[in-house]
Amino acid sequence: MKDYKCDFPQLNDDYVYIDSAATTLTPTTVIDAINDYYRNYSVNIHRGMYKQSYEATEIYENTRRKAAAFIGAKTEEIVYTRGTTSALNLLAQRYGNRILKKGDDIVVSELAHHSSLLPWQHIAAETGANLRYVPLDSEGRLIVDNIKKTLSDKTKIVALTHVSNVMGYLAPVKEVTELAHAVGAKVVLDCAQAVSHVPIDVKQLNVDFMAFSAHKMLGPTGIGILYGKHNLLESMEPLEYGGDMVDFVEKDHAVWKDVPQRFEAGTMPIASVFGLAKAIDYLEAVGLDHIHDHIVKLAKMTIDGLQSIEDVTIYNEHSDSGIVTFNLKNVPSHDALSFYAEENVALRAGHHCAMLVGKKLGVNSTLRASFYIYNDEKDVHRFLDVTKQAVDYFRTLGF
Ligand SMILES: Cc1ncc(COP(=O)(O)O)c(C=O)c1O
Repeated sequence: MKDYKCDFPQLNDDYVYIDSAATTLTPTTVIDAINDYYRNYSVNIHRGMYKQSYEATEIYENTRRKAAAFIGAKTEEIVYTRGTTSALNLLAQRYGNRILKKGDDIVVSELAHHSSLLPWQHIAAETGANLRYVPLDSEGRLIVDNIKKTLSDKTKIVALTHVSNVMGYLAPVKEVTELAHAVGAKVVLDCAQAVSHVPIDVKQLNVDFMAFSAHKMLGPTGIGILYGKHNLLESMEPLEYGGDMVDFVEKDHAVWKDVPQRFEAGTMPIASVFGLAKAIDYLEAVGLDHIHDHIVKLAKMTIDGLQSIEDVTIYNEHSDSGIVTFNLKNVPSHDALSFYAEENVALRAGHHCAMLVGKKLGVNSTLRASFYIYNDEKDVHRFLDVTKQAVDYFRTLGF
């Protein structure tokens, strides 16, 4: 297996980074693309007739084409946003708000990240619609039978998380979409955790909307994508009003540009779009299937290793991704986290912006290790060694 570590200048021999579900590291090619924008362009797009502005516009729009091809969409169905959170807020406020009325149902699950739940919670309160939670099975998974039981002719939106950022489970997207469409509902897919290792074809999945963030797939922060079926995006009003999103302005009204420009008011993070293009190139060169197999293998090794250490509780023994969620018995997860940090092992503790998952597991806070392409078996061994040391250390302290 190729050693990908050398592509990531943030890494060094002592540092084990296993917090990729929060943000992935950035390869040199992406950093160079961001640099390229500032060094060689540093101009605005769509407006200038000079060479630099013209070329920067080309790169910005070619990246849209590339992002569309990456998820099997049409170019005009790709809206640049600040990330998954702003994509889903735009959707809830401009699609949800328009179609929902009192008594309608929005189907969600306790597995949702807050950004895939709170926009709908807010719109439910505004419109009088109801949030309906799909019951999870005993392992905490979303299963088709329970979705069936939750859907009805009142369901207008199904907000689905493709890969849970705490449990690492994959949702049965295609089956859910078929069932949702059969009752006339639209499906909104949160792909923030999936896009870095699951090949996604929105047309084949037939989801109506989908969102992801570049920073969870080797790209820069500040840029993400909202995908929407073209006719649905066209039915939506903009959320932000300003420059670069209107065709005509009169004293008392204005005419919006076509989709997707009408959703991209003001100056967008152009440098981040340059970086996103190189992130997609990197992922395509490595291959998403290959990344998936690699991280699942490392997660499995980690789970096996943790199972052989006494006093560790694992919450997702059958993770479908690179995510492993656990606690050291009787040790507050942030205390354990400090121990790992002292040893230069970077992972995450807390509720992971998915408090309902913690409630379901019966804990306020968990530790989460999440692996990616630049991790290897050595990282797993080092993590397991530090875990053993941590367990011994807290035991001698009487935890
Ligand atoms: C499943 C899931 N959805 C949405 C988000 C939000 O992404 P962002 O903070 O990039 O908007 C995250 C981030 O952790 C996530 O894991």
